[in-house]
Amino acid sequence: MTSELSPDLVIPEHIGIIMDGNGRWARERGLPRHEGHRQGTENLREVLQACGDFGIKYLTIYAFSTENWGRPKAEVNFLIRILETVIDRELRELHQKGVRLRHVGSSSGLPRQLQRKVQEAVELTKNNDSLILNVAFDYGGRAEIVRACQRIIEDGLEPEDVTEELFSQYLYTANQPDPDMIIRTGGDMRISNFLIWQAAYAEIYVANCYWPDFGREELKKAIASFNNRERRFGLVSEQLNGS
Ligand code: IPE
Ligand code: IPE
Ligand code: MG
Repeated sequence: MTSELSPDLVIPEHIGIIMDGNGRWARERGLPRHEGHRQGTENLREVLQACGDFGIKYLTIYAFSTENWGRPKAEVNFLIRILETVIDRELRELHQKGVRLRHVGSSSGLPRQLQRKVQEAVELTKNNDSLILNVAFDYGGRAEIVRACQRIIEDGLEPEDVTEELFSQYLYTANQPDPDMIIRTGGDMRISNFLIWQAAYAEIYVANCYWPDFGREELKKAIASFNNRERRFGLVSEQLNGS
């Protein structure tokens, strides 16, 4: 399957996706916003399949931010129900395909029954390793950093113990590589509180299409763009090229 990508392309190990534009997708079709959210679960399957085929090891999808709680109640409820529906509908197949599900974010705002469902899905798939799928739901980068600080203090660590490496271990993404690329669909060029610590050196790719229209071909374009970047990590080109 990878033959559809040139063999000398570098495949990002970890991609984060800000799945944006569902509402605009719906509005342009004269549909209610929730139809955009519903449609946005259909292409997820294709994107996951493509990630697996292309050899991407970690995928973090931004499904619901801490700020999204402020949306109209009906929309919030719909988005919570979508999480449940996707687990019910997709879990078995994801597990069969060797996908490991992780939740990044807080569960405390979710209905008890859904909290259990998420936990069970995480538990069921914990030994899988073909693709690690982090679902960012009730996730905010700032909340994640504050939570890490609280836990570091609770653990009684001394100021000199707190290094970047240690801090990373207190984040939801502990033991995972930082994202190499953040894709945002829907055309807006902002990070909206997504992985703000982990994306320090991620390449940003903005797709103009709305999330429901983002599929395998769009992902290939993003990977091609990633390959045209020079990741300098603060250094100068000459150092990277060894000259
Ligand atoms: C992304 O689409 C889904 C969530 C943020 C939950 P939006 O609902 O933000 O769609 P737009 O950006 O309004 O088009
Ligand atoms: C970011 O999209 C959050 C998710 C995709 C879950 P938003 O639509 O909430 O972001 P803003 O409001 O445009 O920054
Ligand atoms: Mg949006």
